[in-house]
Amino acid sequence: MRTPNIVGIAGSFKRPSKTRSLVSHVAEVVSGRYGFDFDVYDMIDVGPSLGAALWRKQLDEKAQHVLQEIVAADVLIIGAPTYRGSYPGLFKHLIDLIDPHELKSKPILITATGGGDRHALMVEHQLRPLFGFFMAHTLPTAVYASDRDFRDYAVASEHLSKRIEEAVNEVGVFFPRRVPTFDAAE
Ligand SMILES: Cc1cc2nc3c(=O)[nH]c(=O)nc-3n(C[C@H](O)[C@H](O)[C@H](O)COP(=O)(O)O)c2cc1C
Repeated sequence: MRTPNIVGIAGSFKRPSKTRSLVSHVAEVVSGRYGFDFDVYDMIDVGPSLGAALWRKQLDEKAQHVLQEIVAADVLIIGAPTYRGSYPGLFKHLIDLIDPHELKSKPILITATGGGDRHALMVEHQLRPLFGFFMAHTLPTAVYASDRDFRDYAVASEHLSKRIEEAVNEVGVFFPRRVPTFDAAE
């Protein structure tokens, strides 16, 4: 049986990045739980051809590769830094280059980071409807993290880790044969 592949996309074009760190952390937890492979990309991996591309065919090879990975993923982990109460424009531009049918039924774990808690509902009001357009299966639990959930760009709060666990549990519904079995005596 082919090993399912997780693709994480961080809509950040800074390194180090809390968003990339969050997406990588979630991908590692999913991978550890279900035995999936994973790759994580950010907007630096997509590269500068994105900004100038009006059409997908105008993307260079690097950017085309990331788009193909997104479309082929068995599970997507999306992470966006909050910019002005929403996702960054360049991230939206990448998503705009995906055909409407290409994410249909794909399980998507939504995450976002922001400076504080004021825009915590960005995951529900901005990211969820965006992937609703594609008729993807966004997982019920979305993960939002603010600056104080990180230490040195690493996930550091117990509350955030618990939220991640809840979201990761929901991935199992899509892969019933991969759900780990626990010893009932444990
Ligand atoms: C242009 C810009 C706009 C921002 N707007 C918001 C905002 O509206 N709400 C918020 O909570 N944080 C805002 N922030 C803070 C970032 O969302 C936050 O620092 C995020 O974790 C950065 O992610 P990164 O480390 O992956 O770049 C903004 C940051 C920038 C650079």
